[in-house]
Amino acid sequence: MKKKMSILDFKKYKEEKRKFAYVTAYDYTMASIVDESDVEIILVGDSLGMTMLGYDSTVPVTVDDMIHHGSAVVRGAKNTFITVDMPFGSYEISKEKAVENAVRIFKETGCDCVKLEGGVEYVDTIKAIINAGVPVMGHIGLTPQSSTMLGGFKVQGTTRDSAKKLIDDAKALEEAGCFSIVLECVPSVVGKKIAESVSVPILGIGAGKDVDCQVIVLQDMLGMYPDFKPKFVKIFANVREEMLKGLNAYHDESVSGQFPSEEYSFNRDVDLSDL
Ligand code: KIV
Repeated sequence: MKKKMSILDFKKYKEEKRKFAYVTAYDYTMASIVDESDVEIILVGDSLGMTMLGYDSTVPVTVDDMIHHGSAVVRGAKNTFITVDMPFGSYEISKEKAVENAVRIFKETGCDCVKLEGGVEYVDTIKAIINAGVPVMGHIGLTPQSSTMLGGFKVQGTTRDSAKKLIDDAKALEEAGCFSIVLECVPSVVGKKIAESVSVPILGIGAGKDVDCQVIVLQDMLGMYPDFKPKFVKIFANVREEMLKGLNAYHDESVSGQFPSEEYSFNRDVDLSDL
């Protein structure tokens, strides 16, 4: 059985150039499958707004949604480091509100850290959350909660100036105390440069191979979510196809009377006469 990573392992793995892997999960069963795998970290991402709740963005997701799903994942994955996202609106209003929500998520789910989106402008908020005793993972590059402001789901850091801003953001987050940083949707050269610029691991999603860890949405990598497939998603197993095969086999056998056979029935004599 794998050994659960600790916060200290993040820096250690980077120093040792030991790569690791990160995947989302939003419920008990999926979390227990990831827990049995070699994947080291789970993200209860606010992407659950789309994959679990059917919204078309992460914006409507609430702190209560995150706690509901986060606590189920924590129950299912005892040997995996677990991050829970702070949803849109839960940390932008004030530092006090951010600390209150981070503490609630940390305390009520039993997760190992929270993650929030944003760079330099969130340094004070991040420091306040860490001072309250909650570890924070950063998230820069394409930040889906503010994708409207970014003009949609677009590759970030494509100019010298915007790449420089991302490097500054990463350094500021490290300085603020983030123990690792998600970097989403940037050119591979920018991913490499940012990974070389900080001493905490860069967890890349669409950031090329020269980062410290890869992140992916479980439903995407298992071919389960048909609505949207970013360029950086590789389908590692076609679970949707397998599920459809299983569901249609169940339907066929149910309507033909083949299921349930003797094997799946309770064959006991019960006196039903005169009933
Ligand atoms: O919510 C999420 O799934 C994320 C990943 C895209 C990193 O934040």
